[in-house]
Amino acid sequence: MLKLTAELSDALAQAANLILRSKHVVVLAGAGLSVESGIPPFRGPGGLWTKYGEPTNLSYREFLNDPAEWWEARFRDEQRPGDPTFELKVAVDRAQPNSGHDAMAVMEQQGFLQCVVTQNVDNLHRVAGNQNMLEIHGNRTYLRCIDCGARQPREGYHFDSLPPQCAKCGGVIKMDTVMFGEPIPEDVLLACRQQAEICDLMLLVGTSGTVNPAARLPMVAKELGASLIEINPDETTLTSWCDIILNGPSGEILPLLLKRLQKDGPAEPGNRAEML
Ligand code: APR
Repeated sequence: MLKLTAELSDALAQAANLILRSKHVVVLAGAGLSVESGIPPFRGPGGLWTKYGEPTNLSYREFLNDPAEWWEARFRDEQRPGDPTFELKVAVDRAQPNSGHDAMAVMEQQGFLQCVVTQNVDNLHRVAGNQNMLEIHGNRTYLRCIDCGARQPREGYHFDSLPPQCAKCGGVIKMDTVMFGEPIPEDVLLACRQQAEICDLMLLVGTSGTVNPAARLPMVAKELGASLIEINPDETTLTSWCDIILNGPSGEILPLLLKRLQKDGPAEPGNRAEML
């Protein structure tokens, strides 16, 4: 259980003050946000890549070489204990949003934040109720055509023949999640970049800041004059860029921050005019 020290309480007050004085607040979220939902992070203690090794940048090329073989292996690995695909699938299938996701959804509903850029593919932001979201690494509950880019829910899709084909253009379908070595879809990347350019505050929640282009977004924002607030129990590659550091698990810090915003914020939640 997080101890609400005077230092943390001061930092929460400063963070709330900065958010209330900001016009466009963007969150950059990472795997740490979903740790309290039972999903392992990728790096550091208990990280999936720490345990199994990080996939190579050849992953996407291997898919393109033989998509049918890739899908067969995928279905096999999803049922194979001791495989990272199996471990992640089991954890994500049983996961529910935690108090960090819930607080972030309320912060959007009450006008304290305007957009969530997430590196997580677990769909938990949507389940929690966030609306204005950009999933820079895709969403594991969706499929995407590699030719026309059309996305569709995986649920209910019949994998009658492999590789699966796009109903729209006949192109090959892959998971919507972005593989190592795969370029981020242009539409999402441009929208994420735009959010980094227009925000005057970026909240970095549970990310190690090690994977580009997502890790570049806070620097783009900072270089254009935005402030950065980090929520993470540990130091990261982005900590030195940040104006305020809130050290602790996001499932405990975000509800405290929301409470502070509601206490110091406008009488009518969402009344931005009163906030600025
Ligand atoms: N609350 C907040 N942060 C936490 C918590 C928690 N309860 N537990 C761990 N963290 C922090 C860790 O200290 C670390 O800084 O979350 C971060 C997780 O880092 P990574 O595992 O590297 O995850 P992320 O930054 O999202 O990785 C980026 O790498 O492998 C790819 O596609 C994958 O989207 C992922 C990308």
